[in-house]
Parts: sequence; C-alpha cells; structure tokens
Amino acid sequence: MNIPEVVRHEELKNWISEMADLVKPDQVVWCDGSDEEYDRLCGELEDAGTFIRLNPDLRPNSFLARSDPSDVARVEDRTYICSLNEQDAGPTNNWMNPREMKDILNGLFDGAMRGRTMYVIPFSMGPLGSPIAQIGVEVTDSPYVVVNMKMMTRMGNAVYDVLGTDGDFVPCMHTVGAPLEAGQEDVSWPCNPDVKYIVHFPEERSIWSYGSGYGGNALLGKKCLALRIASTMARDEGWLAEHMLIMGVTEPSGEKTYVAAAFPSACGKTNFAMIVPPKQFSEKGWKVTTVGDDIAWIKPGEDGKLYAINPEAGYFGVAPGTSYETNPSAMESIKANCIFTNVALTDEGDIWWEGMDGDPPAHAIDWRGNDWTPDSETPAAHPNARFTAPAAQNPVIDEEWDNPAGVPIKAFVFGGRRSGTVPLVYQAFNWAYGVYLAATMGSETTAAAFGQQGVVRRDPFAMLPFAGYHMADYFNHWLDFGRNINDPPRIFGVNWFRRDEDGKFVWPGFGENMRILEWIVNRSHVRVGAIESPIGWVPRYSDINWDGVDNFSKADFRGAMTIDRDDWEKELLQHEELFIRLYDRIPKEMLAIKDLTLSAMWRTPDNWEMTSDPT
Ligand code: GTP
Ligand code: SPV
Ligand code: MN
Repeated sequence: MNIPEVVRHEELKNWISEMADLVKPDQVVWCDGSDEEYDRLCGELEDAGTFIRLNPDLRPNSFLARSDPSDVARVEDRTYICSLNEQDAGPTNNWMNPREMKDILNGLFDGAMRGRTMYVIPFSMGPLGSPIAQIGVEVTDSPYVVVNMKMMTRMGNAVYDVLGTDGDFVPCMHTVGAPLEAGQEDVSWPCNPDVKYIVHFPEERSIWSYGSGYGGNALLGKKCLALRIASTMARDEGWLAEHMLIMGVTEPSGEKTYVAAAFPSACGKTNFAMIVPPKQFSEKGWKVTTVGDDIAWIKPGEDGKLYAINPEAGYFGVAPGTSYETNPSAMESIKANCIFTNVALTDEGDIWWEGMDGDPPAHAIDWRGNDWTPDSETPAAHPNARFTAPAAQNPVIDEEWDNPAGVPIKAFVFGGRRSGTVPLVYQAFNWAYGVYLAATMGSETTAAAFGQQGVVRRDPFAMLPFAGYHMADYFNHWLDFGRNINDPPRIFGVNWFRRDEDGKFVWPGFGENMRILEWIVNRSHVRVGAIESPIGWVPRYSDINWDGVDNFSKADFRGAMTIDRDDWEKELLQHEELFIRLYDRIPKEMLAIKDLTLSAMWRTPDNWEMTSDPT
C-alpha cells in the first residue's frame, strides 16, 4: 500500500491497513480532495453508468444518479446504537451487544470490497481547525460517496495537517456490500438489497455502515458522525449536536440575530434557512442569511454566549417541492456543479421533479429509468429525491458561515408537521418549559418516508432517529446545559402545517414565515409584547407585522393560534405516553411541567382565544 507522505498518524495508518486486510479490495486509493480527483471520479462514475452527465448548457458540470429502487432513504429499523449497556441506548434506539455486533460486522465486511477500490476519505466536520470541529476518516468502496463527501464536508489533505501524528478522528467504515467475483459485471448502483446495518459504537466513537449507498446511510459525516456520535461527545463534553438549521436575521437597524431551528426530516429546514422575506420587509432592510440547513454544533463561549457552527459544507436537500416560488435561493444554488439523485431526466438533458416551476414536461425519464408523462400514475422523481450542492453557491450564504468561532445563537425554534392542536407560534415560559416543548414535539409522518400518512409520532428535538443515547438523558443534558448559562437563548414552538376542516393550510407559510420570525427575534431581545396562554407566551394580532397583507384577517390569525382545551388534554396524554416509555430516566421537571400545563388548561375556557386582547 502506497501511503501518501502527508499522512503521519501511525494509528490511522494501522487502522487503514487492518481494514484493507479485512475487506480485501483490488486497490486502495487515498483521496486528496482535489478538484482534479473530483473530476476524474465523476468521469469514472459516468463510464460505469452510475452518473449521467446533464446538458452542460442547461446544468453545467452536473450529474444525475439513479439508485437501486430498494435503496432510496435512511433505514431507521437497521440503525443501531451499540453502547456497552443496553440502558444507555434507551428505548427509542435499536441496540445490540457490541461484541455480538462486531462479530456480525466482521463477517459481513470480510472480503466485502473484492473486485472494488477502497477509498480513504479524510474530512473535517466544521471549518478546519475550529475548536468546535471534529475530524473523521471514511473508508468506502463507493466513488459516489467520495464525490458527495467532497461537497458535503471539508475533505482533503489539509485534514492530515490538523490531525498531525496523534490527533483524534472518528473512524467510519462503509461498504455497499456488493463484492464482485472475477469477471462479474458491475451494476450502476451497487448495494445489498437484503442486508443493511448502520451501526454506531458510542464508547469507541466509531461507525460501521453496510449495504446501502444512499444519503445518511453512506455519507457517514452527516447523520452518523455529526448527530449520533457527536451527540454522545456533546453530552460528555458539555455542548450540543442538533438537527437544526442556523440563520442570520438582519434588521433595518443593521443589528443581526442568529436563530437555530429544529424541524424533523422533510419538514422545512432548508426552506426556512433560505427564507425570502416578503418585499415589504426586504425594502426596509430586513435580510435573512444561511449558516446551515440541517445540523448545528453549539458550544458555550468564554463570554457566556452560545456559539454555533454548521459542521457541513454542502446541502443534501429534498428536491421535490423545491421551486423558484418556494425556495429561489435553493434553485440558484443548484444551477451548476451539483449531483442529483433519483430526480427525473428531461428530453433536453435537464432535471425535473414534482413541484418545480412551470408545466411538467410532456415526456421525461423517471427516477427508475422508465418513460414518464404527466398521465403516468407514479411520480417522476422519488419523494425523497435529493440534490447535493456546495453551500458556497447559495446566494444568501451568511458571511460568517465559515467562521471557525461560530455565530452567537439568541433563539431556538422547534416545529413539527401538525395538522391540528399546535398553534402557529408560542414561546416557552423559560428554559425548562422550552426543553419540555422540544421534548414533546410531535410530527405527522409523511407518505414519502414512513408509509402511513398523518399519524403523529413523537419526535423529541427532531432527534428521534439521530440521538446517540437514551432520549431521557438527552432531555437531562439540555436541562443541565441551560442551568449553566446566564442568559440562555429563548425557546419557541412553531407550526407551519395547521389545516382547516377542508384540509387547507391555515397559514400561507414559506416567505410569510418572516412575520413570525420577526416576532421571535423581537421576543428574544425582550422588546415586543405577548400574552400568557396555558402553554406559553403568544403574540396578539397587533404584535405581528402585517405590512402588505390583505388576505389574512384577524379571524384567520385566531384560527391559526387557537389552543383548544380538548385537543390539548389529548395531546398531554400523548406526552405522558412518551414519558412512560422513558420512565427510568425521565427528568422530574418534565412530569411537573406536564401537570402544571394540564391544570392551566382546566382553568381556561373551552377555546382559549386570546380573550384578554381587545385589538
Ligand atoms: P431534511 O433534509 O430531510 O432534514 O429535511 P428539511 O427539514 O430540510 O426539509 P425541506 O426544507 O426540504 O422540507 C420540504 C417540505 O416542507 C416540503 O414538503 C415543503 O412543501 C414543506 N414546507 C416547507 N416550508 C413550509 C411552509 O412554510 N408551509 C408549508 N405548508 N409547507 C412547508
Ligand atoms: C434527513 O433525513 O434528515 C436528511 C437526509 O437530512 S439524510 O442525510 O439522508 O439523512
Ligand atoms: Mn436532516
């Protein structure tokens, strides 16, 4: 094996040679992260039929990949947290004894890369050398993974300099689990349709992923390292690793406030992170800029404020529904130099998906590679089709997005997809109530990802699939974290997804969310009014900026804000169900706040309707 000179870390070298002995590849390639390497691998992916080069006039330097139909999303039921004690993984994670799991994995990985190339990918999650960043090294037999990692992380030889001779790194093992026998022809999307394992060893801080080449299953810096392993590091070291976007909000005065917001998968983080304020706002000088769209790492600074970085360097965004109307900055970000997975291909050699601007094409090739017309019964793009785009292409990227020190966070926002019960916006009374709000967040499952539609599943902190340890310990960590901060960020709940009896959204959403964001920013600086509801502080109609709105009445606002006592009694019972599941470690604050909220509900009229608000 030809080890490049820049690699001076003995432990890393030994690990790579051990892994090569285990998986038995034809060759080992140490990736340097250069543009030449990226171009060469994209060319090889084209030759192998994995990539289709898009029309360079319409979508320069961009590619389409179609996955195997069995390999289209994260596999939560195949995801394991193998802590030494089962109790530490908690009831919301799959667990197996680490020694048993190692036996299974050693068996599966033995010879798994036969006939393939083993790539070594050095990467940093977060700006290189940032005190908040972490280093990982991913070993993979998927060149598709290599080129995606180049966009999604800071990847390349510079990482070895930061690592030096004895720095810490997270070893990440990945194989598609499809070795090639001598003479066997490869397929365009190799994976293992029968066996998949996404495994985390939190004590050892290592990751093993087998059988899938898609998204969070295979780009191991993202969900596996930056959330599951990082959340256990964060618990041990006193910081936070969260499924959150980070945005900068600049006011007409020039003052800038950073907000971090958690929404479950496919519930609008990318949209909110790139929100385009209504023109009445932008004309006055309001501006929103993106630091990150999926993950935030947050550490207390010397000055007592909380500093956040986006550990990623690209966007792996949901394609369907993305348009100039819903997210113009995302559309600008994907004009060139992108990878599209499982979208449709037009006859002109461009991409298309449901919800894109304009009329659907008269003919296209769907994500499975079949002819498609608007009369087809199946969608042209898979509902979980994604684009991979470099963050630097975002026209509204925040000027501090790459700052190793991070940005100071003033407010946390939590929002699920709820057709009822939860009002448009409310503010927790204090940190502990905020932890309660986030811990009990629910979201309706989307047909796209989980089968049955419209079922509320509890998704604490939007971290249900991503917490690397016992969920109740996670609540405890948040409570504890807030106790040690002087003026902790304010915590808010939002719901963009409430519907009326006819099933229509009661709130226009998207750019209009700016009105709610303005109230959130003002509240976080304690400079605008609110009134007390049973669940938290809420804005009066007159507290929201309605400049330029003529089709949203005061009655509409009340409809979006209603807190119904019967609905909330049911809701609180569901919170209790979660707490019972977590009974052995649930913090007593959670139980107390549930009781206090319930008694506040009993003391209010049937429909709490801002009765104290005359305007
Ligand atoms: P992951 O990348 O999976 O973590 O998801 P994400 O949270 O970044 O998801 P994304 O922003 O791609 O969510 C897209 C979905 O949210 C689409 O179905 C949008 O229509 C919907 N969405 C986003 N913002 C709004 C809104 O303000 N109102 C409504 N009704 N839907 C919205
Ligand atoms: C999510 O599911 O929350 C994602 C996409 O961000 S993936 O990286 O595939 O997990
Ligand atoms: Mn996500």
